[in-house]
Amino acid sequence: MIGTDLNTAITFLEDGNLVAIPTETVYGLAANAFNEEAVLKIYKTKNRPQFNPLIIHSNSFEKFDEWGIYLPADAQKLAEQLSPGPITYVVPTSPKVPLLVTAGQPSVAIRVPGHPLTLDLLSRIEFPLAAPSANPSMYVSPTSARHVQEQLGEQIPYILDGGECLVGLESTIVSFTDAEPKILRYGGTPVEAIETILGKKIQVLNTDDSKPLAPGMMERHYSPTHKVLLGSISGHLREHNPERCAVISFSKTYKQIPPQHLFILSADEDLDEAARNLFSALRQADLLDVDYILADMVPNEGLGYAINDRLKRASAQPS
Ligand code: TXA
Ligand code: MG
Repeated sequence: MIGTDLNTAITFLEDGNLVAIPTETVYGLAANAFNEEAVLKIYKTKNRPQFNPLIIHSNSFEKFDEWGIYLPADAQKLAEQLSPGPITYVVPTSPKVPLLVTAGQPSVAIRVPGHPLTLDLLSRIEFPLAAPSANPSMYVSPTSARHVQEQLGEQIPYILDGGECLVGLESTIVSFTDAEPKILRYGGTPVEAIETILGKKIQVLNTDDSKPLAPGMMERHYSPTHKVLLGSISGHLREHNPERCAVISFSKTYKQIPPQHLFILSADEDLDEAARNLFSALRQADLLDVDYILADMVPNEGLGYAINDRLKRASAQPS
């Protein structure tokens, strides 16, 4: 069922059931983080390996404090300016958080999402919500209630509809478990914003060749069913039958392919707009009867790092 009724959503959550929730980044598949049986339903429904830990969400850091989860000084500085918003803090966990949520790690990922409906929901419950993106494990994340409905609708009692996600990419994950903060995943908060607030360079571990530090940082991820070819679109169109290609382009038009196969992320080359459109374009392209999805990279600045990261993962071959 899809709807906008918070009371219905709260009842399902309090009874240990799953509810898909809107956030500014992507839709989440939420359960009471303190209820292990409910959390287990998340892993089962997504077909997610249990070694991949979950982010827990609440509406305020005071609540996290009450649960024994504290922000180190640098994280506090960021939280003052960037939360609620598309940023997740990995900090020492608390005995209150089930091991199933953290995959047994000594740390827990926490986030205050910037979506009014979900903030309202979170303010009315006494527990945090564990919520990964509401897609089957490895597939592209959902940025609308309809995306969730199409893939997991049968298995989720309630989808809270908060419209289309305004950011469209998952949160940036910053770890505070070592002496210096580190970026574990590029996302909706540009690294530059984090560095400006902290007044220092931050190491980024989100590289393609590093071993996954966060177990979820597997190389192949966000993958459509069709093969994604990255790089020069014109070049690929010379090598493959254009009729059998879909194109996800940053801003350019390609006359060689059928018009309904073309997805332009931002005609104005606006990276925020491109981020907002990326996952929806990947999903729509994947529904076409084509052999390949061609995509080009965007400039490495602002949200461009996160867009390129998701494109690279979408194009990675199963290992
Ligand atoms: O924007 C988002 O972050 C969305 C919305 C729903 O909040 N959530 C999301 O969750 O993207 P998910 O599960 O798809 O990605 C969470 C990532 C995974 O890569 C996981 O490995 C990592 O966070 N993670 C969770 N807990 C961690 C921890 N304690 N240490 C390191 N990485 C952790
Ligand atoms: Mg995910």
